[in-house]
Amino acid sequence: ETELSLSRLMVNSSYKILHKGRASVFQHTVEGWKINTSLVLEIRKDILRFLDAERDVSVVRSSFKPGDVIHYVLDKRRTLNISNNLHSLLPEISPMKGRRFKTCAVVGNSGILLDSQCGREIDSHDFVIRCNLAPVVEFAADVGTKSDFITMNPSVVQRAFGGFQNESDREKFVHRLSMLNDSVLWIPAFMVKGGEKHVEWVNSLILKNKLKVRTAYPSLRLIHAVRGYWLTNKVHIKRPSTGLLMYTLSTRFCDEIHLYGFWPFPEDFSGKAVKYHYYDDLKYRYFSNASPHRMPLEFKTLNVLHNKGALKLTTGKCV
Ligand code: CTP
Repeated sequence: ETELSLSRLMVNSSYKILHKGRASVFQHTVEGWKINTSLVLEIRKDILRFLDAERDVSVVRSSFKPGDVIHYVLDKRRTLNISNNLHSLLPEISPMKGRRFKTCAVVGNSGILLDSQCGREIDSHDFVIRCNLAPVVEFAADVGTKSDFITMNPSVVQRAFGGFQNESDREKFVHRLSMLNDSVLWIPAFMVKGGEKHVEWVNSLILKNKLKVRTAYPSLRLIHAVRGYWLTNKVHIKRPSTGLLMYTLSTRFCDEIHLYGFWPFPEDFSGKAVKYHYYDDLKYRYFSNASPHRMPLEFKTLNVLHNKGALKLTTGKCV
């Protein structure tokens, strides 16, 4: 069997092509949505041919020694030294080993969450995954607060914590991490050169403050494997976004996956402006070729999967 289930789906479904950046073609209904259990199992099995999320979600300590030199995954000419601190924060075993959940929420960061009142529903899931250390407290009614697994691109240090220039930035960061208790903090530290100084700062702050958060660092093969899965299914992504990575990984652990905060478009169905992030003023060119991501294409794919009952995509209000 060479044809994978999703590629059959993608070819057969009659979704409309994005027209002049208008998002209105992506209308989908939430009423009457029903999980398609056999499709969920089929997708899980297909993804397992490319990666095992239990293992690829993080490298483990025994794979490296302090002082080892590794090549960045997306920039092979450049290298990174595994420092003592980094080595000591690598998990001994996968933080997701043996963990299974009935329902999970994967929360993207789109401004579509504002005024959604989805907080309570998001928090009601057994396992909640969030992206890029997005703030929650001030937005609890719309996004909830539960965070069992949260990602952090090294660039977040610069973007949201002033590059740790001031003591107050570092305090704010330590406070944010202490709220996570023993949740998983997932740091793609081996992707591209640029954030290594920040990762070292993060490591030393975690160690110095004896934070309980459980650090994880994606395997060197994860991003290629995820891309491979989607490419094989005729979804031509350049580099999977964090949100798509999280959906792909969660198919291993979650029977029912609910997505919130996925809306990579500048306006909603009614033409009202939607912020790129619900929590800051970052601008994003969704249809720019310069961007490493193809979020509208990813969204189109997720929308197909929603309509087939493989996942549930919420882009409207929850109450
Ligand atoms: N997202 C979305 N629509 C938006 C913003 C984000 O669908 N308007 C989803 C994307 O899947 C994205 C995830 O939410 O990956 C998290 O958002 P963000 O922190 O903005 O991710 P990126 O900045 O794109 O970071 P990365 O390059 O790691 O994907």
